Amino acid sequence: MDTAGKPITCRAAVVWEVGQPYSIETVQVAVPRKGEVRIRMTSTGVCHSDLHVKDGMDKSWVFPSVLGHEGAGLIESVGEGVTSVKPGDTVVLVFEAYCGECRTCKDPRTNFCEKQPRDNFQMDGTTRITCNGEILTQMSSISTFSEYTVTSEINVTKVSSQANPNTLCLAGCCIPTGYGAAMKEAKVPPGSTCAVWGLGGVGMCVLMGCRDSGASKVIGIDTNSKKFELAKTFGATEFLNPKEVSDVPQKLAELTDGGVDFCFVSVGHVPAMEQAFNSSHPQWGKTVVIGLADKGETMRAGVWELLFGRQLVGTFYGSYKARLDIPQLVDKVIEGQIQLNELITHRMPLEKINEAFNMLKTGESLRAIIDFDMLY
Ligand SMILES: NC(=O)c1ccc[n+]([C@@H]2O[C@H](COP(=O)([O-])OP(=O)(O)OC[C@H]3O[C@@H](n4cnc5c(N)ncnc54)[C@H](O)[C@@H]3O)[C@@H](O)[C@H]2O)c1
Ligand SMILES: [Zn+2]
Ligand SMILES: [Zn+2]
Repeated sequence: MDTAGKPITCRAAVVWEVGQPYSIETVQVAVPRKGEVRIRMTSTGVCHSDLHVKDGMDKSWVFPSVLGHEGAGLIESVGEGVTSVKPGDTVVLVFEAYCGECRTCKDPRTNFCEKQPRDNFQMDGTTRITCNGEILTQMSSISTFSEYTVTSEINVTKVSSQANPNTLCLAGCCIPTGYGAAMKEAKVPPGSTCAVWGLGGVGMCVLMGCRDSGASKVIGIDTNSKKFELAKTFGATEFLNPKEVSDVPQKLAELTDGGVDFCFVSVGHVPAMEQAFNSSHPQWGKTVVIGLADKGETMRAGVWELLFGRQLVGTFYGSYKARLDIPQLVDKVIEGQIQLNELITHRMPLEKINEAFNMLKTGESLRAIIDFDMLY
């Protein structure tokens, strides 16, 4: 391609300071260095994690920053030594790397990679996106809110070319996170009762995981009852609005013969996490926390409740080693087992990114996606 080997000038949504709206800027995207790839982004999803970060969830975050961590695209060019992908390949970007060589990559108990930078820079401590010479940090070292981005080879995974790259972004976060919470982290046995707090994009994918595990009851819980109708499509069998019930744990105990087998919390709200823990079956109920909260935030879980049998775990990226597992999830999307298109309620060009986030905040959208091939 004629752009290879040269910096690319394109548009990106930049957050200049914490809490500020996205600003569409002309940015320069550098040539990929050794072990890196440059991607022409085709789609990116609007996930609540971006909202948390923009609003100051992590006080150590360095701004200005190009956020976005749920994305797909086509490889534009590759740096020296890159062998796993080539220009033209359809890829999903992964916000946790997999090098396959480090201690944690080799350990099946975790999906962390020691090579993943934790500071939103690249591995060498620099970034590849600048705006008039000013350095922009790259969320999870990927930055999907840009027409082009550069990241490490170990932060992308090649997927089937049959998948539609203009919608495939959801395979980068919400699908693995939600589906994996049920399938990989909880490993829900058939016949189990499940309850899911927060019926956003992630929560709907948890519902699909519970459904595909053969759960007998899947209770969708949301403070916005408008989500219930759509939740049926993804496998919810009944619903509960915590605003309309005085004692949620008691109501759930009645519905599930003493307590829910698996409680999933896909909303970043600590009281909901505590409510879920207290709704799980007192002897074997397991609560899986997915929603983010401010860095350093804590939740209360009774010591006696833990001693008597309630379990509490969290999951990051659905506990999948994303670079290895996402291609199979994309195959499930192609086969129709995972309903990707049904998750998308709005498609818009990059210029409308602030509108897309407002719709996420108000609950008007389920998943809004930015289609980079849509003209403004
Ligand atoms: N663990 C991970 O790896 C990971 C990955 C992606 C997203 N997340 C987190 O998962 C959460 C969900 O993300 P999303 O994009 O689906 O968000 P979303 O905004 O689309 O969905 C959240 C839902 O929760 C509902 N809600 C709000 N307060 C509630 C309450 N008290 N009880 C029940 N429901 C309530 C909202 O009405 C909404 O439907 C976020 O916190 C996000 O940061 C975590
Ligand atoms: Zn996300
Ligand atoms: Zn590794």
